[in-house]
Amino acid sequence: MSDIILGIESSCDDTSAAVLCDSVLLSNVIASQDVHKAYGGVIPELASRAHQANIVPVVSEALKRAGVSPGELSAIAFTRGPGLLGSLLVGTSFAKALAIAADCPLVEVNHLQGHLMAAFIQQKDVPARHPSFPYLCLLVSGGNSQIVRVDSPLDFTILGQTIDDAVGEAFDKCSKMMGLGYPGGPVVDRLAKLGDPKKYSFSKPHIPGYDYSFSGVKTSLLYFVRDRMAEDPSFMENNKEDICASFQRTLIDILMDKLVKAAKDTGIKEITIGGGVSANSELRARITEEGKKRGWNTYLPEFKFTTDNAAMIAMAGYHHFKAGHIADLSVAPAARASQL
Ligand code: KG4
Repeated sequence: MSDIILGIESSCDDTSAAVLCDSVLLSNVIASQDVHKAYGGVIPELASRAHQANIVPVVSEALKRAGVSPGELSAIAFTRGPGLLGSLLVGTSFAKALAIAADCPLVEVNHLQGHLMAAFIQQKDVPARHPSFPYLCLLVSGGNSQIVRVDSPLDFTILGQTIDDAVGEAFDKCSKMMGLGYPGGPVVDRLAKLGDPKKYSFSKPHIPGYDYSFSGVKTSLLYFVRDRMAEDPSFMENNKEDICASFQRTLIDILMDKLVKAAKDTGIKEITIGGGVSANSELRARITEEGKKRGWNTYLPEFKFTTDNAAMIAMAGYHHFKAGHIADLSVAPAARASQL
């Protein structure tokens, strides 16, 4: 018999609900929050309030598009963490209430595991293609920069992670500092296409193992722009394409160096990516190019499944449900991954 899973995601600034029938996606609704744009970053209190306003219409729409009623659900999977506590509270409380009302099991999901499982979401009429186990996932977002080894749907190991800023944070903070807007990644990506990636160079970190660091390159860019602007106030305006291209190339070189090292050391050639930064056109091109050179099987999930979405939460929830992992109704959200 098929299992119908409702996924609910509210860890940051996207309210999302999705319905999955086994691994096949029936609906995926996402309400993004424009309210943060004016501040150049996510304001936690405003995010919680927007989730509160969005959650009922988003879940109703997801069920409607899927043609499923609450009574038909096999389980409700929700993001327990990591993320913003106030945001997580909205999704968690809603999931509990609906589980009681629909008399159906509740399944908690680690947001990170959702990103790892995104490659397995099947769409009707789209040929299924996903990595085989074990695979490596480069997970890059506004809050994470990690290389994860995935041995089965419920078994993963973080091989390396950032010791300071996440790569998405580096994109966002530098874009804000350069006056280019928020979120920074898409703007830098767009401008970089028009610039010379070799024009300027920024310092790269020397961190052992598979860990990352992005605060040094961020500081290097800040000082560079400050010093050049002191000499020529129009420097930024006249050179923003080259600065973005050079900065982006530096970030991607850092990401790729460690991914290549992890693939070589583990012998794993199944490679996937996840998180908002995996939308970056240059990163996608570099992974594809490296993959061809090194005999990797690369899987680049569609953008709508790489940023925060409930389809990936339902996908991970499905595996937990099959394994009998049912959450207690006293479950509380956890802001940090170490608390999960
Ligand atoms: O996974 P995600 O939606 O949620 C958070 O972790 O918050 O990732 C958001 C991040 C932001 O830092 C944004 O600048 C970045 O993903 N991003 C990109 C691109 N599109 C979004 N970074 C680089 N290039 C892009 N095209």
